[in-house]
Amino acid sequence: MQLLDAWYVVALSSAVVADRPTAVQFHGQNFVLWRDTDGQVGVLPDRCPHKGASLSSGSIRNGQISCGYHGWCFGRHGQCSSIPAQHTGEPMPHRAQTRAIPAREAYGFVWIWWARDPLASLENLPPLPEVGPLPEDADPTWRHLEGEVVWQANWLRVLEAFMDLTHAPFVHSGSFGAMAADQLMPEEHWVRGDSLYERVLAPRDRHYRADQGRGLRAWFNSDAKESPDDTSAGAGVQHIQLWLANVSLVRVVFGDFQISLCTAHVPMADGQTRNLWRHFRSFLRTPLADGNARGRVDRFMAEDQRVVETLTPLHPDLEGRGDLLLASDAMTLGLRKLLREKRSAGLLL
Ligand code: FES
Ligand SMILES: [Fe+2]
Repeated sequence: MQLLDAWYVVALSSAVVADRPTAVQFHGQNFVLWRDTDGQVGVLPDRCPHKGASLSSGSIRNGQISCGYHGWCFGRHGQCSSIPAQHTGEPMPHRAQTRAIPAREAYGFVWIWWARDPLASLENLPPLPEVGPLPEDADPTWRHLEGEVVWQANWLRVLEAFMDLTHAPFVHSGSFGAMAADQLMPEEHWVRGDSLYERVLAPRDRHYRADQGRGLRAWFNSDAKESPDDTSAGAGVQHIQLWLANVSLVRVVFGDFQISLCTAHVPMADGQTRNLWRHFRSFLRTPLADGNARGRVDRFMAEDQRVVETLTPLHPDLEGRGDLLLASDAMTLGLRKLLREKRSAGLLL
């Protein structure tokens, strides 16, 4: 299933560099990403128009991608600038070009515009989704980490899992889910445009019963201060938001102590999704705590992966004929309704 005429994250910005190409698989097709001499990201199909070699197996020369087979060079707009075997002075054949995919960078990610009509004008593309709030990378009051993990599951199933509240006490009973009440109904939820949001109370006392007195949680618990985000004494707040096509943000706020996890769920193929995550914490900002924080993200991602990879059928059931969704699945229902609307508009294939 593909959502068309949408911005998708396809890579972490940090993964795209100036001295070597990066291969990305997206909706079953292969692309090459790199950075030109101005630092701008180029995205082209990973196929040289000459004889079909993989451009990502080539190299970067003067900010252009150079095919490893006969050395043709392409700029980020897809134009061919050099055919070494041609005699100097010969005009560049008109057909020596490839189709550039519109790309932008924001929030630490590379985004591409996935058009319904690939030949349509690239003028006046809609703006990127406004993902946030997210700390700036240079903000010294936050520490951030990045990572990625591939799941054998459809990207829409994965997207749903990141908005699915009621699985937490079961799937995550070995990690942060120990904090969760069985009845996790959102305090507030809405759908605006292509974004869904929900806010949930995170009761602190149940959270800390799980491993009171140990590690980060004990430290976190002992010093937590109240803030406007504390809706009641002893409670924190969890904000979960999703932006189509493929970004989720989970923010857990206990006063000044906050954790945010922004994840892009990149559709590699119909049954394969690459989760690119950026994790931010406002406490224990020393690099010495990175190993612990990364271990926690890896652990709860693995908990989700185990169950999401078992879901059948492969795609979410937009008609509601196969699944039995209830009021407690409000966000899943909201997302599926939005996807049905996209499909009616010819934007979900
Ligand atoms: S196949 Fe790429 S230059 Fe020949
Ligand atoms: Fe989960």
